[in-house]
Amino acid sequence: MTANELRQKYLDFFETKGHKVIPSASLVPTNDSTVLFTTAGMHPLVPYLLGEAHPAGRRLASCQKCIRTGDIEEVGDNRHLTFFEMLGNWSLGDYFKPEAIAWSFEFLTSRDWLGLDLSRLYASVFEGDTDAPRDEESIAHWQRAFGSTGLEAKVGDRTKGIGEGERIFLYPKDKNWWGPAGATGPCGPDSEMFYDSLGAEDKRQHLGSWKGSEPCHPNCDCGRYVEIWNDVFMEYERRIKNKESRIENEVEYEFIPLKQKNVDTGMGLDRTLAVLKGQRSVFDTELFKPMFDVISLHQDGMSETELRRARVVLDHVRAATFMVGDGVEPSNKDRGYVLRRLLRRAMVYAKLLNLKEHWLKALVGQVITVYGEPYPELAQNSERVFSAIATEQKKFSQTLDKALREFERLIKHNAAAGVTGKEAFDLYQSYGLPWEVTHELAQQSGWRIKAEEFEAEFKKHQELSRTASAGQFKGGLADHTEQVVRLHTATHLMNAALRQVLGEHVWQKGSNITAERTRFDFTHPQKMTDKEKKKVEELVNSWIRADYQVKREVLPLEEARKLNAIGVFGEKYADTVSVYTVYDPKTNEVISREFCGGPHVEHTGRVGQFKIIKEEAVSSGVRRLKAVVS
Ligand code: ALA
Repeated sequence: MTANELRQKYLDFFETKGHKVIPSASLVPTNDSTVLFTTAGMHPLVPYLLGEAHPAGRRLASCQKCIRTGDIEEVGDNRHLTFFEMLGNWSLGDYFKPEAIAWSFEFLTSRDWLGLDLSRLYASVFEGDTDAPRDEESIAHWQRAFGSTGLEAKVGDRTKGIGEGERIFLYPKDKNWWGPAGATGPCGPDSEMFYDSLGAEDKRQHLGSWKGSEPCHPNCDCGRYVEIWNDVFMEYERRIKNKESRIENEVEYEFIPLKQKNVDTGMGLDRTLAVLKGQRSVFDTELFKPMFDVISLHQDGMSETELRRARVVLDHVRAATFMVGDGVEPSNKDRGYVLRRLLRRAMVYAKLLNLKEHWLKALVGQVITVYGEPYPELAQNSERVFSAIATEQKKFSQTLDKALREFERLIKHNAAAGVTGKEAFDLYQSYGLPWEVTHELAQQSGWRIKAEEFEAEFKKHQELSRTASAGQFKGGLADHTEQVVRLHTATHLMNAALRQVLGEHVWQKGSNITAERTRFDFTHPQKMTDKEKKKVEELVNSWIRADYQVKREVLPLEEARKLNAIGVFGEKYADTVSVYTVYDPKTNEVISREFCGGPHVEHTGRVGQFKIIKEEAVSSGVRRLKAVVS
């Protein structure tokens, strides 16, 4: 079975169970400040999991692009990845545990579908704690499913390893609970499915040379049992209890039963593909194999360290290609920094592996080819993808040699102490060597860098820049004269017009308004053409002429998110936010909706004639517009 066939099979199966297939959302979450990237298939569905009606109904299925960097240290083993595709099915207050478990079992084991070897399949279930009880229902449903094939499915004791006839294992919250992607949101106990990749007679034997203190069991870190699918039973919403607290580590949470009980599932496409082919590692699948080939790397002849480094390179380039495809540009902040770190880490390892000059371009091209069919946006944006990645490569390769030489010098020079945190910070500041990479290289040379020292330096630096931008923000809002208020509304209209004319990759990076002009920084990879500028002007002026209504609402944060408001809101834990909407009162069509403190004009006719006076670059991937109203 190919990857394309597996995607299709999954979606077809759930269509036969009454689900509507929805397309993958972007890796860049729309209007959600709680996470930088889409981390799971459920993520774009949060408003619907909280009760809003989904236009496609109550049974949905998708194949969602995801980025998770939490396990980045693990990438290079047989199963961890920073980018992956998640196959998922959802019940929005429709079916619950009995159907979800029965269908998971059917899809995995039926000969009409995946037909996996039943003797190698295991399930894990939540063992219960003070927040929620042991999930007896799921245990019973698994027993019924296995029982339908004549197999016994006893509940085992994980500390003793897998015994005869044992198929179900219980774990605490850290394994069998799916929390919200951010700090708050829908959550509940989950039930995971594992496949025995070794298939050896002795079920307690670890994979490879792993030496664990306990005999092997489904969640053992040796990786013998590969988690391929997770059924989450969302019954609760995790909320902030003490809303008045504005200090992050003093925030307390509570679990409120959801009005609507949902099912949220996630199957890892790469892992399932490997399991179906009897491959021990996700890097052996058709998705990664051609990447090794295109840069002439032969897995067979590699040492363990080399293989790990090569896998990191491939994983990171795949993730980076998808990120840029969805509009992220390398930078020193947020999403852009995650991307930069992945690319730079890949470049360091490529150097250590002596990869030939065009390795990066070849790998990016390979990713675009392999994923051309399911993700046509990669090919559509290929020019931008190649150019953003090549620009970052050029930028970093100028300092990479120097950084590595400097690193060697420090290691030699500081023979006894290794590299200090301050020196690691200097490597980051002067040569752009990400902290994680310095830390890793130091470890590989047998040194330990004091993370606290690095963090202290980093914080000092961050505070300086935060103070600077806070000052700038205030400067932009303090003046409430008529002219500034008009420019303020013009800026919202310009933001909306830019997103229409240039695309949804446009995100506000900063703004500053004086009585003379508005200055607006936003993500966009290249210079705007005269035609594009003209189009933006025309669009803004047409909205001004239409004299649309501007409305301010103070809403609970969750509600504001559901309305798809864009923009930046200051306080992470503010429970209510102010949202400005520009809309056509006749049709209720929304032109612009932003989180914003205001103030604004009451109807767009008061803005005046809008004109762009300058367009320039701020940094790589960020442009600046200056505009006036008269
Ligand atoms: N949201 C669940 C997960 O990511 C399915 O594992």
